[in-house]
Amino acid sequence: MKDTKTDFIVIKALEDGVNVIGLTRGTNTKFHHTEKLDKNEIMIAQFTEHTSAVKIRGKALIQTSNGEMSNE
Ligand code: TRP
Repeated sequence: MKDTKTDFIVIKALEDGVNVIGLTRGTNTKFHHTEKLDKNEIMIAQFTEHTSAVKIRGKALIQTSNGEMSNE
């Protein structure tokens, strides 16, 4: 079983102004955090008791335990 609270996801922005949006865990799913990345900036993040999903808007390279993907 994969441990969601220790696995990291890596997001590398491929353009300026990529948004990484954290969504809450629990019965309501809401945005609680927005991080803006400029080109070539990298964010390393975990899922936590507060964060159950991440939405990425803009061109980015994303690595997770499920593999690597780009939304370019
Ligand atoms: N304080 C947030 C939390 O512990 C920070 C966070 C964790 C976060 N993972 C994230 C923010 C992913 C954006 C995207 O849940």
